[in-house]
Amino acid sequence: MKRFYKRALGPILSLAALALPQVSQADEYRLGLITPPPHQWTVSAIEAAAEIKEKTEGRVDILIFPSGQLGNEAQMLQQLQTGALDFAFFTLGEFANRNPNYGIFLAPYLVDDVAGARELLKGPTAQKLLDGMADFGLVGFGWGMAGMRMIVTGPEVKTVEDLKGLKIRTIPFAPELAFWTSLGAAPTPMPLPALYDAFANGQVDGMQIDVEGTWNTKYYEHAKSIIISNHMMFPMAAIGSGRKWQGISEADRAVISEVFAAKLDEMVGKYGEIDAKYKADLETTNVPVTTVGRDWFGPAIDAWYEEWRTKAPMLSEIEAEAGH
Ligand code: BEZ
Repeated sequence: MKRFYKRALGPILSLAALALPQVSQADEYRLGLITPPPHQWTVSAIEAAAEIKEKTEGRVDILIFPSGQLGNEAQMLQQLQTGALDFAFFTLGEFANRNPNYGIFLAPYLVDDVAGARELLKGPTAQKLLDGMADFGLVGFGWGMAGMRMIVTGPEVKTVEDLKGLKIRTIPFAPELAFWTSLGAAPTPMPLPALYDAFANGQVDGMQIDVEGTWNTKYYEHAKSIIISNHMMFPMAAIGSGRKWQGISEADRAVISEVFAAKLDEMVGKYGEIDAKYKADLETTNVPVTTVGRDWFGPAIDAWYEEWRTKAPMLSEIEAEAGH
């Protein structure tokens, strides 16, 4: 698989290699993530790896393993902790289930759009949570995102009432499950790589998902409704194995940290346009695309905040930062 993927990356890797002097001490590292090759997370990981290789004069060569090739996030977390894996781009799932404060970014309508998310992801609460990655045996490099969440359903959905009883695919973490339960839906946790088939064969009736993935993975092929709700941001954590980090020289660590931080901010900055582009693409399909706001969801959102302000004490901090 490694060889295949290196070949697939040929143009990028060989361009970097051409610019490099011959080096004898190249170390290969691995970065795992669950998104498929065309997804922006994977694209940013490939670009970051090429830049790190160039800036470390070939000493740090990070191979990218997309689509969950190294396992799901729970499995990759274990590998990071033992030092069997070096780097990863993760959703919040593994962190939020261990410490509810990591779920606060998923507060419904915490921000209006990607620009609001970008501010929060660079703010003091986000930094505190990044520093807290040390408690998981990890190094946190920064926050990326996959734009704003939307809803795709197999059956037609016009009002929030129509969601009642539908099996909606979510990420398996408590704040998301609570949101869907409060809407009367049946949240059905499922890893991203399994989602297309599960939706196609009716194992789930719908999903909350990113706009980009809906287009690239063609979830719309089995949908009767596409609802652009922008109801939560969807952060990504760029992380490294604390164990492996110790073995990298201080100078190379500085390069890795700097390149990841810059790439992540650039990625988040792009998502306003990415979401708009893929929304326009979805509007070219035969599936009706509707845009809804906070009011569409009714009282469930206020109830969610009441519950989670107690469960996750840092929620009030980030609400204040967001100007609520
Ligand atoms: C998801 O599981 O919904 C997801 C994960 C990573 C990027 C985008 C979506």
